[in-house]
Amino acid sequence: YQIMRPQNEPVLSFLPGSDEKKSLKRRIAEMKASAIEIPLIINGKEIRTGRTGTCIIPHNKSHVLATCHMAGPRETEIAIRAALEAGKKWEATPWDHRLAVFLRAAELISGPWRDTLNAATMLGQSKTVYEADADAACELADFFRFNSYFVRQIMEEQPQSVPGVLNRMEYRPLEGFVFAVTPFNFTAIGGNLPSSPAMAGNTVIWKPSSTAIYSNYYVMKLLTEAGLPDGVINFVPGAGSEVGPVVMGHPMLAGIHFTGSTATFNTMWRTVAQNLENYRNYPRIVGETGGKDFLFAHVSADTDALIHAIISGSFSYQGQKCSATSRVYIPESIWPDVKKGLLREMADLKTGDVEDFTNYMGAVIDQAAFDSVRSYIDFARASPEADIIAGGGCSDETGFFIEPTVIVTTDPHFKTMQEEIFGPVVTVYIYKDDACEKALELCESTSGYALTGAIFARDRIAIAKIEKRLTYSAGNLYINDKTTGAFVGLQPFGGSRASGTNEKAGSKHNLSRWMSPRTIKENF
Ligand code: ALA
Repeated sequence: YQIMRPQNEPVLSFLPGSDEKKSLKRRIAEMKASAIEIPLIINGKEIRTGRTGTCIIPHNKSHVLATCHMAGPRETEIAIRAALEAGKKWEATPWDHRLAVFLRAAELISGPWRDTLNAATMLGQSKTVYEADADAACELADFFRFNSYFVRQIMEEQPQSVPGVLNRMEYRPLEGFVFAVTPFNFTAIGGNLPSSPAMAGNTVIWKPSSTAIYSNYYVMKLLTEAGLPDGVINFVPGAGSEVGPVVMGHPMLAGIHFTGSTATFNTMWRTVAQNLENYRNYPRIVGETGGKDFLFAHVSADTDALIHAIISGSFSYQGQKCSATSRVYIPESIWPDVKKGLLREMADLKTGDVEDFTNYMGAVIDQAAFDSVRSYIDFARASPEADIIAGGGCSDETGFFIEPTVIVTTDPHFKTMQEEIFGPVVTVYIYKDDACEKALELCESTSGYALTGAIFARDRIAIAKIEKRLTYSAGNLYINDKTTGAFVGLQPFGGSRASGTNEKAGSKHNLSRWMSPRTIKENF
């Protein structure tokens, strides 16, 4: 067979009364009715350590979905040995057979596994049905299909041969194993970070976020059902402080595929530096970290489109996206209209239990996230440079709920304009219409991050100038669109500066990082 360029998996609409809605509701009820036990999965075997944590529903915090076993140094060592052993057979498996596992997984996601992944993501991470389906179903299937296509493209890239000389490139996996450390906020990223190195022939230690073990466990089960051989991906939930040092200190650590906080990523770089002399190879380090993403409105902006982009970019999934719109620059002359529209639209946004499909937002992931986001809101409330014009309410009585919140500040360097909040809070700075250049400089240099950014303008000449004026402040720049929601294969995703190594998830560039090519010249 030929692996062709795929189409993105379409989202479902879940309209009232639809079969897809009924079926998902049934699955949610089943999964809520019985708590499960989640083991580690090493070399295809379930391991119960007896050191357990719990997975809860963030919008209904007393409800326990699962008890999960946590790895310590001993299980981590066993997992590394399993990965290295399994690597021998996996590397020798033809690449198209390796990819077949992931292509099959994508078909299972489109079919019988969709409800389970969506329900697990809605319950375990408090995603609304639309956010869950776009993530756990569509984006994950897209990663599997597009990355298969990219692997094929790379495998087929061969150097020129000349009469008497045959030149070849052999795209081997890295020598050793890859460490995938994944975040809570996207089930698709949870699945992609261990899978893309595995698609290139590597074997993997996968440490999921401790707040997304529930959905990530189902991804692991899906891959097993799709035919992933034992030991290729080893599912090792556990505290970073228990698992990390064993993995990072191992001489055969060949790569790190990370999404999470900038602080954790920095620690990993330092640990690699400390262990440098011990490694057989320089580990490939690919990481996507935080963001403080801007939206810049020009005087010519379409205000309706702008309002919708602010709401969706700032508040979807409770703002818990590295790509979330977090600082907004609006010219004085259009601010009254924008403000009126924002307040009007936000009055209809409901926050609550995501099992009610009409809620726009669920809860933030846990108590620590709740406390942290609330402290930013409290800081703004107490500050003379800031005014909370919408939202600001927080309650952790039944779940970790924070209202969508808009802060307006007179200080372009205000704390909430600079620091990543990772919650449903956006800060607006109003600039004088003739100070466009100064506002663009603020977009470019206010934060140390450089992940996503958006420009809103109808004036074509202005768009061209602004696009050129902004340089490294965004790895993904959107024109007249929100800062979130990159599609695999269409908008390769990633940023630089404190936002990561910019190896573009959902593109060929990412896949090539998991390969160690050998060039072979043969004289005839
Ligand atoms: N890739 C995700 C987005 O674009 C983070 O929103």
